[in-house]
Amino acid sequence: MPVLHVSAECAPFAKVGGLADVVGALPGALARLGVASGVVMPFYGGPHGRLAQKAGAIESVHTGVVFFEGEWFPFEVFQSDALSSDGAEVPLYLVHEPEHFGDDGVYFRASDNTWFARGEVRYLVFQLMVLDWLRSENTPLDGDGLLHLHDHHAGLIPALLHTDPANSVLADLPTVLTVHSADHHGEIPWARWNSLGLDLPNWESLDHLGVVNSLKAGVETADRVTTVSPSYAIELTESPETSHGLDYAFQLAGDRLSGIVNGVDMDVWDPATDAFLPEHFSADDLGGKTALKQAVCASLGLDASRPLLTFVGRLTPEKGAEVLAPGIAQILHQTDAAVAILGSGYPEYEGALRDLAASAPEGRLSVTLAFDEALAHRLYGAGDVFLMPSKQEPCGLGQLYAMRYGTIPVVHAVGGLRDTVTAWDGAIGTGLRFDAYSADAFAEAVGRALALDADARAALQQNGMRADHSWAASAADYVTLYRELGLSTATKGSGV
Ligand code: GLC
Repeated sequence: MPVLHVSAECAPFAKVGGLADVVGALPGALARLGVASGVVMPFYGGPHGRLAQKAGAIESVHTGVVFFEGEWFPFEVFQSDALSSDGAEVPLYLVHEPEHFGDDGVYFRASDNTWFARGEVRYLVFQLMVLDWLRSENTPLDGDGLLHLHDHHAGLIPALLHTDPANSVLADLPTVLTVHSADHHGEIPWARWNSLGLDLPNWESLDHLGVVNSLKAGVETADRVTTVSPSYAIELTESPETSHGLDYAFQLAGDRLSGIVNGVDMDVWDPATDAFLPEHFSADDLGGKTALKQAVCASLGLDASRPLLTFVGRLTPEKGAEVLAPGIAQILHQTDAAVAILGSGYPEYEGALRDLAASAPEGRLSVTLAFDEALAHRLYGAGDVFLMPSKQEPCGLGQLYAMRYGTIPVVHAVGGLRDTVTAWDGAIGTGLRFDAYSADAFAEAVGRALALDADARAALQQNGMRADHSWAASAADYVTLYRELGLSTATKGSGV
């Protein structure tokens, strides 16, 4: 196998956000282009946990032990074939180590939502285990393979490859780091890192404000750095706010940095077959979309005769939670629309939405403060307009799902939203955008969407549904990058 993805999440096995969707879909798309790849992630909860139930039959492929902070941590790598898609073989490797990953929770303990006792070093230990396995005779990688690292959870691997003498056999392995979000950096106190006893000729590349910064380390030391849209790549180099202080590191990456937008798993996200939808439809026959809207409105207590606006997302500052409640308040006041919100997150934003729901007129606002995959699919499909006021958006998947399901997106023109939603100009376009990040600008753009005549709405809907956001093009861009790094695997298809 030439390419191994190293990630903290992979759908449907362990999903917190869009990272999981990408790592769950990209290997299948690469395989269709002739590049076999596998995924390695922590085995949250171990062989008797919740993830194990989704992983099906597993087989042990490696046992090892890592030494860290004066302790030995034995671990075992299992292989599952549960990720294989469309006849493409995608092995999923699960690293089982009970001390750091014995709980079902991904970033927080499943039972009480608290942080792990050894939280600061969990992913460092994961990376040490992955490297122990890769340098063993059980490695799944071919001689000319490469590592595709995702987010800060795998960001220290290039530095470990080059500074840990134990990894000298792997030192030539090319690395690609994909930044799905710069909101988390994986900070580790130097004292804990230093227990590795490594001789660091270039310690500055790991340091940010006096601690080891895993994301920065990856950005500075990986052979290539990608982000999930070209606009986000630019924003990371220009804005200390978007990069959370790492703009200088992204600038230093220079030509090593590029943006490749995410695709959509067209098999999972198809309104004609989606098992979560009680009614189905397609661009040629939208009858089922109306029936779906009626069913969803009835189940949420909303008035189906009104235009339906939907929101699905985490209630965090990055996703625009600050402007959501005040924007919805204006929209309820200024328009005749009904609104359905699904999401969970910071208590203050949940509280503001709960208050709004309590005072909204009958049939106008439904707020579900939860993570609910089935309802999410229904809201992407049932809406007339999809709301995505993200403050920052590396790529964003909600707008892609909404377009595919004939729901017109209204988005803040930032990051991947700018790159994937073309503004309606009266003739062409796939959605509506607003530039200023404010509740007023958001409500104004929703007003514009609701004022469109039936012909314009139908054109926008068709443009969105027929746009090609499949993984094929993005996967081809990754293959080009892999080949620039020396991957010699023969590839199928044209243009690759
Ligand atoms: C993160 C980003 C989102 C992106 C996803 C997958 O969740 O916030 O914009 O689509 O990763 O790359």
